Amino acid sequence: MKRATQAVQYMPSGAKRQKGPRLKEANASQVSGSLIQNLSQKLGARLDRTERGGDWGSREPKSLRGPHRLRPAPHRASTMTFAAAYPFITESGLGHEGTYIGTDVFGSGAFSYDPWILYDKGVISGPSIVVIGTVGTGKSMCGKSLVARSITLGRKAAVASDPKGEWVAVANAVGGKVISVGPGRPARVNPLDAGPRSSALSEAQWQAVVRQRRRYLLVALVSLMRQGMPLRPVEHTALDMALTETVAENSNPTLPMVLDHLLNPSKETVGLVGKDGGLAVAHSLRRTVSGDLEGMFDAPSTVAFDADAPMMVMDTSALIGASEQALALAAACGATWLEAAVTNPDGGKRLVVYDEGWRMLADPYMLAKMSEQWRLARTYGIANLLIMHKVADLNEIGDSTSGHRQKALGLLTEADTRIIYRQKHDAMRLTKEALGLSEAECEHVENLPKGVGLWKVGNRSFIVANRVTTDELKVFGTDARML
Ligand SMILES: Nc1ncnc2c1ncn2[C@@H]1O[C@H](COP(=O)(O)OP(=O)(O)O)[C@@H](O)[C@H]1O
Ligand SMILES: [Mg+2]
Repeated sequence: MKRATQAVQYMPSGAKRQKGPRLKEANASQVSGSLIQNLSQKLGARLDRTERGGDWGSREPKSLRGPHRLRPAPHRASTMTFAAAYPFITESGLGHEGTYIGTDVFGSGAFSYDPWILYDKGVISGPSIVVIGTVGTGKSMCGKSLVARSITLGRKAAVASDPKGEWVAVANAVGGKVISVGPGRPARVNPLDAGPRSSALSEAQWQAVVRQRRRYLLVALVSLMRQGMPLRPVEHTALDMALTETVAENSNPTLPMVLDHLLNPSKETVGLVGKDGGLAVAHSLRRTVSGDLEGMFDAPSTVAFDADAPMMVMDTSALIGASEQALALAAACGATWLEAAVTNPDGGKRLVVYDEGWRMLADPYMLAKMSEQWRLARTYGIANLLIMHKVADLNEIGDSTSGHRQKALGLLTEADTRIIYRQKHDAMRLTKEALGLSEAECEHVENLPKGVGLWKVGNRSFIVANRVTTDELKVFGTDARML
């Protein structure tokens, strides 16, 4: 409180502030500058409308109704002062530490953000971030500026899902590496790779983690092929036996090896599940090694994860136009491989991005895997960044009573940083419920211009205009490619 009150310096009405450096800064990004102006005009216009209750004021008791309109002299003060004078209405910001994102529209100050710093300060209770908004509102731009600028401050990044290939340019700009998989691309990625061993785990613990991850992936792939229909207990056993036998024979197991064991079960497996117990699972899994995904995830990896590179991108854009199922399978394989590589507490602090990430939530097993990954994020020094269009995308998952959809929504609610870009009116009801927005916040969200988002950080709330330089706009922009 002492800090907040010691510098109470109101600027009298009409007084001008020093212009020099501030104006220069404002010119640095004309695009974002005009965004803020736009927004202030919109918000101002709304205020004007609501204020107009006639010159005599509102007909409520004790409302000081009278013939003279109250016109208090405007005053100007620092956001720190205002935050003390108008608690819960004006924000004093999150401080200067972290990555510069842009301008806090209401306070006009700079807005910086870093999930790890805010976690250490106790502002948020977890480092996961969700960005949600209509197509073309600036979600990816926001993610890209956070990632690229964080890298200059020593953080790292991995893009686990990039269906449009739009993060490739960002990786190239910051000296990162890109792994492109898809038809006609030479890279092979083996999703069953163990990844680097975490120094925090003993050999036995490590084996258990790797085994669990591989099992999750196999079950997820089968379930994706069957549009979410769960595996029968016998099928779980068959898959498990096939995996155990493959790992016993090969230190570097691949999907075709597991498939082979399913099609030609050992005596022991036949004793447990019968001759045909694993046949249906085998046919579901076959799609990952033949058909539209052939030659992508079915051989030992020909690329390695470079833990020292500031950024790694798993680019699956060559699959654009492939079926929804193939895209989901590729996303599952690619993300599992990348996650195996990044879940290492010695790897430094890393942002893991899932752009257009709802596909990852579409399958119950992928979702379970993702929930686990989010829960362990802090241990591994990871901050997950999930970018998606609307909460309604999750409606395609299961039915409204299904635990699956609730779990997916839970993932959004659990994210302690929620960035909401403009949403259409009809999408707002679900967003409001899922992300816990107030009525006033919803009203703002529906009217936000491009590049401006509502940031809910812990229990604080900001409207932030993401400011980008002309050079950044060239690299991060998607307009030219009409993505
Ligand atoms: N903060 C911003 N400042 C200026 N232009 C922006 C900003 N954010 C987005 N844009 C423009 O909008 C386009 C679409 O943004 P993008 O982030 O790709 O949208 P989406 O929400 O679909 O991910 C960009 O190519 C860029 O031209
Ligand atoms: Mg986008």
